[in-house]
Amino acid sequence: MTKHIPVLLDAVMKALGDVRGRTVVDCTFGAGGYSRAFLDAGAKVIAFDRDTNVLEDALNLEKQFGNRFKFINSQFTNINKLSGDDFDDVIFDLGISSMQIDNGNRGFSFRFDAPLDMRMDTRGGITAADLIRESTEATLADILYEYGDIKKSRFMAKLLKEKMPITTFQLRDLIKNPNDVAPVFQALRIAVNDEMGQIKSALESVHGLLGSGGKCICVTFHSLEDRVVKNAFRKWTQPQGDPRLPVLVMPEYKLLRPAVPSDKELEVNPRARSAHMRGVEKV
Ligand SMILES: C[S@@+](CC[C@H](N)C(=O)[O-])C[C@H]1O[C@@H](n2cnc3c(N)ncnc32)[C@H](O)[C@@H]1O
Repeated sequence: MTKHIPVLLDAVMKALGDVRGRTVVDCTFGAGGYSRAFLDAGAKVIAFDRDTNVLEDALNLEKQFGNRFKFINSQFTNINKLSGDDFDDVIFDLGISSMQIDNGNRGFSFRFDAPLDMRMDTRGGITAADLIRESTEATLADILYEYGDIKKSRFMAKLLKEKMPITTFQLRDLIKNPNDVAPVFQALRIAVNDEMGQIKSALESVHGLLGSGGKCICVTFHSLEDRVVKNAFRKWTQPQGDPRLPVLVMPEYKLLRPAVPSDKELEVNPRARSAHMRGVEKV
């Protein structure tokens, strides 16, 4: 299976600076490309991933790096169970990994016939087929519109409720406009995994937990994620209070320079094409 190629890793390392002796929380372990780079650079790492399929890679890092590496097999919103003293910096590399999309059994891709699952964490929660069955037509239409930008979302929602697809190919074959296939899959995946809720909630926790000099860096893959991160960081880095009054509370955070992949990186890894990196540092 395709191994995930870490995206914007050089930019992330540059934004983090010298991590020797620091503890970095890698909220999205994936194939461990980021975690390994932080460990190689002398950091301690606490890593989250809710997918159980990454356990083997995580165990390998545990064997190699001992107590400098700790893996937590859960959703990254559990960062709120850590204390601010447990870590210095936090990284999110959002979305799904190449292993998830290229695994023919998991239902993320319309290239393979599989049950319509799409859960990152297969230990619980509802599948995409369940979501279609259990949601009202109006909710489904909202999901398709908000997370997939599907113009005829009401029509599509009605069709899904009528036909109740339970496999990827059944879903794919229902969608008449080929340009809508990827966005419909994306919309269902984002809803199944509550991706927007997860990032909003985790960022709120990080905002309260980071200590002085701590950095939070996010790599996003589509405009919806990027907007959530951009808006959160904008709020963190603006003076607080009523702008008409003379006393404003100065922001606790400053923005770091954002980055996108270079042409060279895109040549090696075309999947990185819509990636954006944004970061902040607590002052
Ligand atoms: C793009 S990959 C990360 C790749 C990683 N940086 C690397 O270098 O291999 C995203 C990973 O984050 C995980 N993930 C996404 N949302 C999550 C969440 N809310 N909680 C925990 N893990 C999550 C996915 O399961 C996936 O393995």
